[in-house]
Amino acid sequence: MNEFPKGFLWGAATSAHQVEGGNRNDWSEWEKSEVRSRELEARIKDEKFRKSFPAHILNASPSPLDPANYISGAACDHYHRYEEDLDIAKSLGHNAHRFSIEWSRIEPEEGKFDEKEIEHYRKVIAALRARGMEPFVTLWHWTAPIWFQQRGGWLSPRSSYYFTRFVSRIAETFSSDVQFWCTLNEPEVFISYGYIAGIRPPQAKSIWKAAVAFHLLARAHRSAYRALHRVASSYNRPCLVGIAKHNKYFVAADASIKNKFFTALARFFWNEAFMLHIRGYQDYIGLNYYNRNVIDFGWHKPRKGLYNLEISPEGFYESLIAIHKYGKPIYVLENGIDDARDVSRPSFIKEHIEAIMRAKTHGADIRGYFHWSLLDNFEWESGFWPRFGLVEIDYQPKADPPRAGKTLERKIRPSAFEYKKIIEANGLLDFPET
Ligand code: FCB
Repeated sequence: MNEFPKGFLWGAATSAHQVEGGNRNDWSEWEKSEVRSRELEARIKDEKFRKSFPAHILNASPSPLDPANYISGAACDHYHRYEEDLDIAKSLGHNAHRFSIEWSRIEPEEGKFDEKEIEHYRKVIAALRARGMEPFVTLWHWTAPIWFQQRGGWLSPRSSYYFTRFVSRIAETFSSDVQFWCTLNEPEVFISYGYIAGIRPPQAKSIWKAAVAFHLLARAHRSAYRALHRVASSYNRPCLVGIAKHNKYFVAADASIKNKFFTALARFFWNEAFMLHIRGYQDYIGLNYYNRNVIDFGWHKPRKGLYNLEISPEGFYESLIAIHKYGKPIYVLENGIDDARDVSRPSFIKEHIEAIMRAKTHGADIRGYFHWSLLDNFEWESGFWPRFGLVEIDYQPKADPPRAGKTLERKIRPSAFEYKKIIEANGLLDFPET
Protein backbone atom coordinates (compact mmCIF):
# COMPACT_ATOMS: atom_id res chain seq x y z
CA MET A 1 0.00 0.00 0.00
CA ASN A 2 1.64 3.24 -1.01
CA GLU A 3 -1.31 5.60 -0.81
CA PHE A 4 -3.04 7.40 2.01
CA PRO A 5 -6.83 7.21 2.22
CA LYS A 6 -8.87 9.80 0.37
CA GLY A 7 -9.50 12.80 2.60
CA PHE A 8 -6.16 12.51 4.41
CA LEU A 9 -5.28 15.99 5.68
CA TRP A 10 -2.01 17.35 4.30
CA GLY A 11 -0.80 20.70 5.45
CA ALA A 12 1.44 22.79 7.66
CA ALA A 13 1.02 24.45 11.04
CA THR A 14 1.60 27.90 12.48
CA SER A 15 0.70 29.64 15.72
CA ALA A 16 -0.59 33.17 16.15
CA HIS A 17 2.16 34.69 18.27
CA GLN A 18 4.88 33.18 16.10
CA VAL A 19 3.65 34.56 12.77
CA GLU A 20 0.97 37.24 13.08
CA GLY A 21 2.89 40.22 14.42
CA GLY A 22 1.44 43.03 16.51
CA ASN A 23 0.34 40.85 19.41
CA ARG A 24 0.01 42.18 22.93
CA ASN A 25 -0.03 39.32 25.39
CA ASP A 26 1.94 37.83 28.29
CA TRP A 27 4.73 36.80 25.91
CA SER A 28 5.14 40.16 24.20
CA GLU A 29 5.38 41.76 27.65
CA TRP A 30 7.97 39.25 28.78
CA GLU A 31 10.07 39.80 25.63
CA LYS A 32 10.41 43.45 26.61
CA SER A 33 10.79 42.98 30.36
CA GLU A 34 13.83 44.04 32.41
CA VAL A 35 14.57 40.50 33.54
CA ARG A 36 14.59 39.25 30.00
CA SER A 37 16.78 42.08 28.67
CA ARG A 38 19.38 41.52 31.41
CA GLU A 39 19.39 37.81 30.77
CA LEU A 40 19.88 38.35 27.03
CA GLU A 41 22.62 40.90 27.53
CA ALA A 42 24.61 38.37 29.53
CA ARG A 43 23.93 35.60 27.07
CA ILE A 44 25.00 37.61 24.03
CA LYS A 45 28.31 38.43 25.72
CA ASP A 46 28.94 34.81 26.64
CA GLU A 47 31.71 33.30 24.50
CA LYS A 48 30.28 29.78 24.82
CA PHE A 49 26.92 30.97 23.50
CA ARG A 50 28.55 32.72 20.53
CA LYS A 51 30.56 29.64 19.70
CA SER A 52 27.50 27.42 19.69
CA PHE A 53 26.36 28.79 16.30
CA PRO A 54 27.70 28.10 12.82
CA ALA A 55 28.75 31.15 10.76
CA HIS A 56 25.71 31.10 8.46
CA ILE A 57 23.41 31.54 11.47
CA LEU A 58 25.57 34.19 13.15
CA ASN A 59 25.75 36.19 9.92
CA ALA A 60 22.08 35.92 9.05
CA SER A 61 19.57 38.61 9.89
CA PRO A 62 18.49 38.70 12.62
CA SER A 63 21.44 36.97 14.25
CA PRO A 64 21.21 35.29 17.68
CA LEU A 65 23.62 38.00 18.84
CA ASP A 66 21.21 40.77 17.93
CA PRO A 67 18.78 41.76 20.75
CA ALA A 68 16.11 42.48 18.09
CA ASN A 69 16.11 38.75 17.35
CA TYR A 70 14.24 38.20 20.61
CA ILE A 71 11.35 40.61 20.08
CA SER A 72 8.39 39.13 18.17
CA GLY A 73 7.28 42.59 16.91
CA ALA A 74 5.86 42.37 13.41
CA ALA A 75 6.87 38.67 13.19
CA CYS A 76 5.95 37.57 9.62
CA ASP A 77 3.09 40.07 9.41
CA HIS A 78 0.89 37.09 8.69
CA TYR A 79 -1.97 39.00 10.30
CA HIS A 80 -2.08 41.18 7.19
CA ARG A 81 -0.60 38.73 4.69
CA TYR A 82 -2.61 35.60 5.45
CA GLU A 83 -4.25 35.58 2.00
CA GLU A 84 -0.86 35.53 0.31
CA ASP A 85 0.41 32.86 2.71
CA LEU A 86 -2.64 30.67 2.20
CA ASP A 87 -2.24 31.08 -1.56
CA ILE A 88 1.27 29.71 -1.16
CA ALA A 89 0.03 26.80 0.98
CA LYS A 90 -2.64 26.05 -1.61
CA SER A 91 -0.11 26.20 -4.46
CA LEU A 92 1.96 23.66 -2.51
CA GLY A 93 -0.94 21.21 -2.57
CA HIS A 94 -2.03 21.60 1.07
CA ASN A 95 -5.66 20.68 1.68
CA ALA A 96 -5.65 21.68 5.38
CA HIS A 97 -3.99 24.19 7.67
CA ARG A 98 -3.41 24.32 11.42
CA PHE A 99 -3.31 27.76 13.02
CA SER A 100 -4.21 29.33 16.34
CA ILE A 101 -6.72 31.96 17.38
CA GLU A 102 -5.02 34.47 19.65
CA TRP A 103 -6.98 34.75 22.90
CA SER A 104 -5.44 38.15 23.73
CA ARG A 105 -6.86 39.60 20.50
CA ILE A 106 -10.34 38.21 21.05
CA GLU A 107 -10.58 39.13 24.74
CA PRO A 108 -8.04 41.93 25.35
CA GLU A 109 -9.87 42.96 28.50
CA GLU A 110 -11.52 40.56 30.85
CA GLY A 111 -14.97 39.62 29.59
CA LYS A 112 -14.86 42.10 26.67
CA PHE A 113 -14.77 40.47 23.28
CA ASP A 114 -13.40 42.38 20.33
CA GLU A 115 -15.75 41.97 17.34
CA LYS A 116 -13.15 43.30 14.91
CA GLU A 117 -10.73 40.55 15.85
CA ILE A 118 -13.44 37.90 15.69
CA GLU A 119 -14.12 39.20 12.20
CA HIS A 120 -10.43 38.82 11.35
CA TYR A 121 -10.47 35.11 12.14
CA ARG A 122 -13.78 34.73 10.33
CA LYS A 123 -11.99 36.01 7.24
CA VAL A 124 -9.05 33.67 7.79
CA ILE A 125 -11.40 30.68 8.03
CA ALA A 126 -13.34 31.87 4.97
CA ALA A 127 -10.05 32.26 3.08
CA LEU A 128 -9.19 28.66 3.93
CA ARG A 129 -12.60 27.38 2.86
CA ALA A 130 -12.40 29.39 -0.38
CA ARG A 131 -9.16 27.55 -1.15
CA GLY A 132 -10.66 24.16 -0.33
CA MET A 133 -8.52 23.84 2.81
CA GLU A 134 -9.75 22.36 6.10
CA PRO A 135 -9.16 24.62 9.12
CA PHE A 136 -7.60 22.91 12.15
CA VAL A 137 -7.95 25.43 14.95
CA THR A 138 -5.78 25.66 18.07
CA LEU A 139 -7.33 27.64 20.93
CA TRP A 140 -4.29 28.14 23.13
CA HIS A 141 -0.77 27.99 21.74
CA TRP A 142 1.00 29.22 24.90
CA THR A 143 0.10 32.91 24.84
CA ALA A 144 -2.62 34.52 26.95
CA PRO A 145 -4.11 37.95 27.56
CA ILE A 146 -2.22 40.13 29.99
CA TRP A 147 -5.21 40.33 32.37
CA PHE A 148 -5.27 36.52 32.55
CA GLN A 149 -1.61 36.49 33.53
CA GLN A 150 -2.28 39.20 36.14
CA ARG A 151 -4.94 37.05 37.71
CA GLY A 152 -2.44 34.25 38.18
CA GLY A 153 -2.51 32.62 34.72
CA TRP A 154 -2.55 28.85 34.87
CA LEU A 155 -2.10 28.91 38.63
CA SER A 156 -5.43 30.61 39.16
CA PRO A 157 -8.30 28.35 40.30
CA ARG A 158 -10.45 30.36 37.88
CA SER A 159 -8.20 29.67 34.86
CA SER A 160 -10.46 26.95 33.52
CA TYR A 161 -13.51 29.22 33.82
CA TYR A 162 -11.72 32.07 31.99
CA PHE A 163 -10.48 29.80 29.22
CA THR A 164 -13.85 28.10 28.74
CA ARG A 165 -15.62 31.46 28.49
CA PHE A 166 -13.30 32.39 25.60
CA VAL A 167 -13.62 28.95 24.01
CA SER A 168 -17.43 29.06 24.22
CA ARG A 169 -17.47 32.40 22.48
CA ILE A 170 -15.29 31.07 19.68
CA ALA A 171 -17.38 27.92 19.41
CA GLU A 172 -20.62 29.94 19.16
CA THR A 173 -19.10 31.96 16.34
CA PHE A 174 -17.26 29.33 14.35
CA SER A 175 -18.85 25.95 14.97
CA SER A 176 -20.55 26.11 11.56
CA ASP A 177 -17.17 26.49 9.81
CA VAL A 178 -14.77 24.51 11.97
CA GLN A 179 -14.96 20.87 12.97
CA PHE A 180 -11.37 20.24 14.15
CA TRP A 181 -10.44 21.85 17.46
CA CYS A 182 -7.19 21.61 19.37
CA THR A 183 -7.70 23.12 22.82
CA LEU A 184 -4.11 23.14 24.14
CA ASN A 185 -0.72 23.03 22.52
CA GLU A 186 1.89 20.91 24.28
CA PRO A 187 0.95 21.47 27.93
CA GLU A 188 3.97 19.50 29.18
CA VAL A 189 6.41 21.64 27.16
CA PHE A 190 4.75 24.81 28.44
CA ILE A 191 4.91 23.56 32.03
CA SER A 192 8.46 22.27 31.98
CA TYR A 193 9.92 25.39 30.29
CA GLY A 194 7.76 27.93 32.09
CA TYR A 195 7.42 26.46 35.59
CA ILE A 196 10.37 24.07 36.06
CA ALA A 197 13.32 25.23 33.89
CA GLY A 198 12.06 28.83 34.15
CA ILE A 199 13.32 29.86 30.72
CA ARG A 200 9.94 30.99 29.39
CA PRO A 201 7.19 33.07 30.95
CA PRO A 202 6.11 33.02 33.71
CA GLN A 203 9.71 32.00 34.56
CA ALA A 204 8.95 30.03 37.70
CA LYS A 205 11.19 27.29 39.04
CA SER A 206 8.86 25.31 41.20
CA ILE A 207 7.73 21.74 41.00
CA TRP A 208 4.73 22.64 43.12
CA LYS A 209 3.60 25.38 40.69
CA ALA A 210 4.25 23.01 37.79
CA ALA A 211 1.95 20.45 39.39
CA VAL A 212 -0.80 23.04 39.91
CA ALA A 213 -0.54 24.29 36.31
CA PHE A 214 -0.60 20.70 35.07
CA HIS A 215 -3.76 19.99 36.98
CA LEU A 216 -5.47 23.24 35.94
CA LEU A 217 -4.55 22.89 32.28
CA ALA A 218 -6.06 19.41 32.28
CA ARG A 219 -9.18 20.81 33.93
CA ALA A 220 -9.35 23.61 31.35
CA HIS A 221 -9.12 21.10 28.54
CA ARG A 222 -11.92 18.97 29.91
CA SER A 223 -14.12 21.97 30.43
CA ALA A 224 -13.37 23.36 26.93
CA TYR A 225 -14.04 19.93 25.48
CA ARG A 226 -17.50 19.91 27.01
CA ALA A 227 -18.20 23.47 25.86
CA LEU A 228 -17.17 22.78 22.26
CA HIS A 229 -19.37 19.70 22.12
CA ARG A 230 -22.29 21.44 23.78
CA VAL A 231 -22.27 24.22 21.21
CA ALA A 232 -21.67 21.92 18.22
CA SER A 233 -24.45 19.55 19.21
CA SER A 234 -26.93 22.39 19.74
CA TYR A 235 -26.39 23.26 16.06
CA ASN A 236 -26.02 19.65 15.04
CA ARG A 237 -22.50 20.20 13.71
CA PRO A 238 -19.59 17.75 13.53
CA CYS A 239 -16.98 18.43 16.20
CA LEU A 240 -13.66 16.73 16.95
CA VAL A 241 -11.69 17.92 19.94
CA GLY A 242 -8.19 17.01 21.13
CA ILE A 243 -4.89 18.52 22.18
CA ALA A 244 -1.47 18.71 20.53
CA LYS A 245 0.59 16.30 22.60
CA HIS A 246 4.35 16.58 22.34
CA ASN A 247 5.79 13.08 22.66
CA LYS A 248 9.41 12.09 22.55
CA TYR A 249 10.75 8.66 21.88
CA PHE A 250 12.80 7.94 25.00
CA VAL A 251 15.37 5.15 24.86
CA ALA A 252 17.90 4.03 27.44
CA ALA A 253 21.54 4.48 26.38
CA ASP A 254 22.40 1.07 27.79
CA ALA A 255 20.89 -1.80 29.70
CA SER A 256 21.82 -0.41 33.13
CA ILE A 257 19.04 -0.40 35.67
CA LYS A 258 19.33 3.35 36.28
CA ASN A 259 18.98 4.24 32.59
CA LYS A 260 16.08 1.87 32.17
CA PHE A 261 14.45 3.31 35.25
CA PHE A 262 14.83 6.94 34.12
CA THR A 263 13.62 6.03 30.64
CA ALA A 264 10.45 4.50 32.09
CA LEU A 265 10.02 7.56 34.29
CA ALA A 266 10.49 9.97 31.38
CA ARG A 267 8.03 8.02 29.23
CA PHE A 268 5.46 8.13 31.96
CA PHE A 269 5.81 11.77 32.97
CA TRP A 270 6.39 13.26 29.53
CA ASN A 271 4.29 11.06 27.26
CA GLU A 272 1.57 9.57 29.41
CA ALA A 273 0.70 11.60 32.51
CA PHE A 274 -1.30 14.39 30.87
CA MET A 275 -3.12 11.90 28.66
CA LEU A 276 -4.25 10.01 31.75
CA HIS A 277 -5.52 13.24 33.25
CA ILE A 278 -7.74 13.97 30.24
CA ARG A 279 -8.84 10.39 29.65
CA GLY A 280 -12.24 10.21 27.95
CA TYR A 281 -11.96 13.81 26.69
CA GLN A 282 -10.28 13.36 23.33
CA ASP A 283 -11.91 12.54 20.00
CA TYR A 284 -8.56 12.18 18.26
CA ILE A 285 -4.94 12.07 19.35
CA GLY A 286 -2.91 15.04 18.13
CA LEU A 287 0.79 14.24 18.06
CA ASN A 288 3.67 16.71 17.88
CA TYR A 289 6.85 14.76 17.29
CA TYR A 290 10.38 16.10 16.82
CA ASN A 291 13.01 13.87 18.42
CA ARG A 292 14.26 10.73 19.95
CA ASN A 293 15.76 11.25 23.37
CA VAL A 294 18.51 8.95 24.60
CA ILE A 295 18.53 8.78 28.37
CA ASP A 296 22.02 8.50 29.74
CA PHE A 297 21.83 9.47 33.36
CA GLY A 298 25.08 9.68 35.27
CA TRP A 299 25.39 10.14 39.01
CA HIS A 300 29.11 10.76 38.75
CA LYS A 301 29.69 11.72 35.11
CA PRO A 302 28.43 15.03 33.72
CA ARG A 303 24.71 14.69 33.39
CA LYS A 304 23.59 14.31 29.78
CA GLY A 305 20.09 13.52 30.97
CA LEU A 306 17.11 14.81 29.16
CA TYR A 307 18.67 16.91 26.46
CA ASN A 308 20.19 14.23 24.25
CA LEU A 309 17.90 14.95 21.34
CA GLU A 310 18.25 13.26 17.98
CA ILE A 311 16.33 13.38 14.74
CA SER A 312 14.85 9.92 14.34
CA PRO A 313 12.11 8.81 11.93
CA GLU A 314 12.28 5.45 13.67
CA GLY A 315 11.35 7.20 16.92
CA PHE A 316 8.40 8.77 15.08
CA TYR A 317 7.24 5.33 13.97
CA GLU A 318 7.55 4.04 17.55
CA SER A 319 5.69 7.07 18.91
CA LEU A 320 2.83 6.54 16.47
CA ILE A 321 2.61 2.88 17.39
CA ALA A 322 2.68 3.82 21.08
CA ILE A 323 -0.30 6.19 20.83
CA HIS A 324 -2.23 3.74 18.69
CA LYS A 325 -3.12 2.11 22.04
CA TYR A 326 -5.57 4.97 22.78
CA GLY A 327 -7.77 3.58 19.99
CA LYS A 328 -8.49 6.98 18.44
CA PRO A 329 -7.75 8.49 15.05
CA ILE A 330 -4.33 10.18 15.02
CA TYR A 331 -3.47 13.55 13.50
CA VAL A 332 0.18 14.58 13.40
CA LEU A 333 -0.11 18.26 14.31
CA GLU A 334 3.60 19.14 14.23
CA ASN A 335 6.77 17.61 12.87
CA GLY A 336 9.64 19.58 11.44
CA ILE A 337 13.27 20.63 11.49
CA ASP A 338 15.25 23.81 11.98
CA ASP A 339 17.22 23.97 8.71
CA ALA A 340 17.93 27.42 7.27
CA ARG A 341 19.71 26.01 4.25
CA ASP A 342 17.11 23.35 3.53
CA VAL A 343 19.81 20.69 3.35
CA SER A 344 18.17 18.03 5.52
CA ARG A 345 14.49 18.99 5.27
CA PRO A 346 13.70 17.11 2.01
CA SER A 347 14.88 13.77 3.40
CA PHE A 348 13.44 14.62 6.84
CA ILE A 349 9.96 14.97 5.32
CA LYS A 350 10.25 11.88 3.19
CA GLU A 351 11.57 9.67 5.99
CA HIS A 352 8.98 10.89 8.48
CA ILE A 353 6.12 10.29 6.06
CA GLU A 354 7.55 6.89 5.40
CA ALA A 355 7.38 6.26 9.17
CA ILE A 356 3.69 7.21 9.08
CA MET A 357 3.09 4.76 6.25
CA ARG A 358 4.80 1.98 8.17
CA ALA A 359 2.81 2.77 11.30
CA LYS A 360 -0.37 2.68 9.19
CA THR A 361 0.46 -0.73 7.81
CA HIS A 362 0.83 -1.84 11.43
CA GLY A 363 -2.62 -0.62 12.33
CA ALA A 364 -2.25 3.00 13.51
CA ASP A 365 -5.21 5.04 12.22
CA ILE A 366 -3.40 8.19 11.04
CA ARG A 367 -5.56 10.74 9.25
CA GLY A 368 -3.47 13.85 8.79
CA TYR A 369 0.01 15.36 8.78
CA PHE A 370 0.85 19.01 9.46
CA HIS A 371 4.44 20.01 8.91
CA TRP A 372 5.95 22.55 11.31
CA SER A 373 5.94 25.11 9.89
CA LEU A 374 4.49 26.82 6.86
CA LEU A 375 6.68 29.87 7.46
CA ASP A 376 9.91 30.69 9.25
CA ASN A 377 8.73 32.33 12.44
CA PHE A 378 9.37 33.58 15.95
CA GLU A 379 10.65 30.52 17.79
CA TRP A 380 9.81 31.60 21.33
CA GLU A 381 12.82 32.25 23.59
CA SER A 382 15.21 31.55 20.67
CA GLY A 383 13.65 34.28 18.54
CA PHE A 384 13.86 34.36 14.77
CA TRP A 385 17.08 32.54 13.98
CA PRO A 386 15.75 28.92 14.00
CA ARG A 387 14.29 28.38 10.56
CA PHE A 388 11.51 25.82 10.48
CA GLY A 389 9.63 27.08 7.43
CA LEU A 390 8.69 25.35 4.20
CA VAL A 391 8.74 28.99 3.19
CA GLU A 392 11.66 31.24 4.02
CA ILE A 393 11.03 34.72 5.39
CA ASP A 394 13.46 37.49 4.57
CA TYR A 395 13.84 39.53 7.77
CA GLN A 396 16.37 41.99 6.28
CA PRO A 397 15.48 45.64 6.66
CA LYS A 398 14.03 47.16 3.51
CA ALA A 399 16.69 48.63 1.24
CA ASP A 400 14.48 51.61 0.47
CA PRO A 401 14.59 53.73 3.69
CA PRO A 402 11.26 55.57 3.33
CA ARG A 403 9.50 52.23 3.47
CA ALA A 404 10.33 51.34 7.05
CA GLY A 405 10.37 47.78 8.32
CA LYS A 406 11.58 44.47 6.97
CA THR A 407 11.07 43.04 3.50
CA LEU A 408 9.38 39.89 4.89
CA GLU A 409 9.52 38.52 1.39
CA ARG A 410 8.37 34.91 1.12
CA LYS A 411 10.56 32.40 -0.74
CA ILE A 412 9.43 28.82 -1.13
CA ARG A 413 12.17 26.36 -0.13
CA PRO A 414 12.88 23.35 -2.41
CA SER A 415 11.71 20.92 0.32
CA ALA A 416 8.21 22.41 0.04
CA PHE A 417 8.06 21.15 -3.54
CA GLU A 418 9.26 17.72 -2.44
CA TYR A 419 6.43 17.70 0.10
CA LYS A 420 4.06 18.79 -2.65
CA LYS A 421 5.03 15.78 -4.79
CA ILE A 422 4.20 13.47 -1.87
CA ILE A 423 0.85 15.20 -1.36
CA GLU A 424 0.02 14.97 -5.06
CA ALA A 425 0.79 11.26 -5.07
CA ASN A 426 -1.13 10.98 -1.76
CA GLY A 427 1.80 8.99 -0.39
CA LEU A 428 5.29 7.83 -1.23
CA LEU A 429 5.48 6.19 -4.60
CA ASP A 430 8.51 4.12 -3.71
CA PHE A 431 7.01 2.72 -0.51
CA PRO A 432 6.83 -1.09 -0.85
CA GLU A 433 3.38 -2.48 -1.63
CA THR A 434 2.00 -4.80 1.02
C1 FCB B 1 6.92 23.08 19.31
C2 FCB B 1 5.95 24.25 19.42
C3 FCB B 1 5.93 25.13 18.19
C4 FCB B 1 7.33 25.35 17.65
C5 FCB B 1 8.05 24.04 17.48
C6 FCB B 1 9.44 24.15 16.87
O1 FCB B 1 7.26 22.62 20.58
O2 FCB B 1 4.64 23.78 19.61
O3 FCB B 1 5.28 26.32 18.50
O4 FCB B 1 8.01 26.22 18.47
O5 FCB B 1 8.15 23.39 18.72
